[in-house]
Amino acid sequence: MENSRRKFLTSIAMLSAVSVFPMNAFNFGLSKKLRIVLVGTGIRGTSFWGKRLVEEYSDLLEFVGLSDVNQGRMEYAKQYMGVNCPTFIDFDEMLAKTKPDLIIVTTVDATHHNFIIKGLEFGCDVLTEKPLTTDEIKVQEILNAERRSGKNIIVGFNYRWSPYNTKIKELLAKNTVGKITSVDFHWYLNTYHGASYFRRWHGLKHKGGSLWVHKATHHFDLLNWWLDSEPIEVFAYGDLEHYGVNGPYRGSNCRTCKYKNNCDFYFDITKDKRLMNLYVDNENYDGYIRDNCLFRNEIDIYDKMSAQIKYANNVTVNYSLTTYSPFEGWRIAFNGTEGRIEAALDIPYHKNFSVDQVEMHAKEMEQNALEEAEMESIIVHKLWKDFDTVKVPYEKGGHGGGDSRLQDKIFVSPNVEDPFGRAAGSRDGVMSVLIGIAARKSIETGNKVQINDLSDLEPRARRL
Ligand SMILES: NC(=O)c1ccc[n+]([C@@H]2O[C@H](COP(=O)([O-])OP(=O)(O)OC[C@H]3O[C@@H](n4cnc5c(N)ncnc54)[C@H](O)[C@@H]3O)[C@@H](O)[C@H]2O)c1
Repeated sequence: MENSRRKFLTSIAMLSAVSVFPMNAFNFGLSKKLRIVLVGTGIRGTSFWGKRLVEEYSDLLEFVGLSDVNQGRMEYAKQYMGVNCPTFIDFDEMLAKTKPDLIIVTTVDATHHNFIIKGLEFGCDVLTEKPLTTDEIKVQEILNAERRSGKNIIVGFNYRWSPYNTKIKELLAKNTVGKITSVDFHWYLNTYHGASYFRRWHGLKHKGGSLWVHKATHHFDLLNWWLDSEPIEVFAYGDLEHYGVNGPYRGSNCRTCKYKNNCDFYFDITKDKRLMNLYVDNENYDGYIRDNCLFRNEIDIYDKMSAQIKYANNVTVNYSLTTYSPFEGWRIAFNGTEGRIEAALDIPYHKNFSVDQVEMHAKEMEQNALEEAEMESIIVHKLWKDFDTVKVPYEKGGHGGGDSRLQDKIFVSPNVEDPFGRAAGSRDGVMSVLIGIAARKSIETGNKVQINDLSDLEPRARRL
């Protein structure tokens, strides 16, 4: 136990990466387990940061409290996670009564800042799901609170930890194709996963900051980390042309919809026991409808997004995000002074077998699919030469294998130095959301937006 405790302390220090983390941050004895509270007992909280932590790291940590606005969902969460701790509607009361060592935040994106700031002020370190937050005012409040508190924020950027993405980082860090000058990056969400964002709170800007923030924070963090630089300027276009008001039908939700037989997007939630237990059984507490109509008039986010991003090291990026693609996948190309690197995942035309588009996202969220590793390619094409293919084992489950590696780094092998710098702290969280926030502002104003106008952080040509 003592060994595990020490491991954890060191791991938090490494995870907060850019900031020097005080080793005496936790003032508890070595004989007791790390006291964790979790706020937001939804799907991500109860699975990845809930059940998985209980199953994999119970010798080291214990849940001492759960908090959510939905009492019914909290009761289900206890049972699903296999814990017996108290539940609290009131987050402050939970902190006061449980005196945790670490707070995990997995609530609706636009509420993260409340729990991050209160947690830091209470004297705790805070591990938050992405995105760090949803607008620049909250960004600055979080930065101020972290500085005042002397505590640390960890942002759960799991995508960095997938072996495929790490291999790209390695090739770039070795200057395999010289100095990178420009990047094309395109992400395609299919009509199952992409559509799912429009069924719930993600479809409202004031809850998820739009997919520029909720989803693209992953992509912008990858860019910042791969390029080892920070963004300085963003120009963007975006529109809502498929979902929301554009739909041919409109109902209150899929279960009761009279267009069930006509709508291509009909989603039968009753076939999914987990979603029924988590959401439908607890609708009466807060009115959270998981199979909401994706053609609701209130939807105000963009479903097509395109941006140009300029970095402090002069790299320019063309980025796009599509939400109604027939397939789910992504493509990136790095143009360098000595050649080009191309990477792509899940493009069906690259494969000699068919991919189940309905199951793809469920697989990605699944934590036990490690045995399904397959080889994926990265193309390295040097100027004046034939191209080389670098093969990387790729796992479908747990976000390309990133999920489990992120947690294992925290709890199992924290003392092993990470040559790829995959740990993410508040600055990484801020720099990724600011690109999305800037893109939103650019669409609203029609102007380029300077990143240094959005917080007191000055973008660096080279990340530290
Ligand atoms: N890193 C990843 O790959 C990944 C994957 C999925 C989700 N996420 C993130 O995890 C977070 C949760 O997402 P989810 O899919 O589990 O959503 P969800 O809707 O299933 O869960 C959100 C939970 O927060 C609760 N909640 C909302 N407002 C609250 C408040 N003010 N106080 C307390 N509880 C509140 C809701 O009742 C719900 O139980 C989001 O920030 C999301 O971006 C990250």
